[in-house]
Amino acid sequence: MSVDVLTRPLFSVRGLCLSFPDQSRKPLFGAAPRIEVLKGLDLDIPEGRITGIVGESGSGKSTLGRVLVRLLTPDAGQVLLDGKDIAHLDEDALRPLRRDLQMIFQDPMSSLNPRHNVARIITTPMKRYGLGGSHADALAALERVGLGAAFAERYPHELSGGQRQRVGIARAIALKPRFILADEIVSGLDVSSQAQVLSLLKDLARDMGLTVAFISHDLSVIRHLCDDVIVLNLGEILESGSVEQVFDNPQSEVTKTLLDAIPLPELDPDWFD
Ligand SMILES: Nc1ncnc2c1ncn2[C@@H]1O[C@H](COP(=O)(O)OP(=O)(O)O)[C@@H](O)[C@H]1O
Ligand SMILES: [Mg+2]
Repeated sequence: MSVDVLTRPLFSVRGLCLSFPDQSRKPLFGAAPRIEVLKGLDLDIPEGRITGIVGESGSGKSTLGRVLVRLLTPDAGQVLLDGKDIAHLDEDALRPLRRDLQMIFQDPMSSLNPRHNVARIITTPMKRYGLGGSHADALAALERVGLGAAFAERYPHELSGGQRQRVGIARAIALKPRFILADEIVSGLDVSSQAQVLSLLKDLARDMGLTVAFISHDLSVIRHLCDDVIVLNLGEILESGSVEQVFDNPQSEVTKTLLDAIPLPELDPDWFD
């Protein structure tokens, strides 16, 4: 596993199984057969570190992430958060955890309310959780993500892709979460905006002591951002370890193929310092 002796896991996942009904094979009568998407996963997400989850499209990355933040309920297995199993908690029991477990989405255009300005987008969840939510709070959150006060009055369609992702990050960190799930958050951005958003996330995670699970199909992004990496394939873990271990000595053919797919020249590592 990827955990070294000094870091304790925020999440420990054991025997995680999840299936979806296969609508394409739904019979006229009765239930559709189910497709197993997560097939008995065991993994740890160490506290205060950035764990990359990588794999080809359809390997189950987003599904795993959505189980961690309990947007999905698994069929079987344990999702231990600080040692307490949250896998089957109902919505009432999850409510106190919701603030701690935040998510940044792939497509900010669909996760930011188009009719709200940026200040309102950031402060609405703060108010819901009783964490302030004044205009000054919005400006402070914007400043942390490198956006000036003028952005507070803008609407999502008036922002670039990179700026939208910064707003998504500002909204999440304004809640002072413990954990952030970032699912393909730079996939839609050009390379230089990617580097800036990743650098921002890395700085914030370090400064705030956040635990991050960073989902990507792109190993070059994982290499520059993450401490640890888990390689998923068809709902199973092929390998996991520190980024150095996995990149220097990949064990599986899938990892080697993903490594070969890294374009040259690579992202400039200086951008990440
Ligand atoms: N809500 C759903 N209903 C049915 N099948 C789903 C659903 N969500 C995901 N799947 C299927 O589960 C598999 C894994 O999906 P996903 O976790 O999104 O993979 P990834 O994020 O690695 O691309 C895919 O085959 C996908 O089609
Ligand atoms: Mg996905």
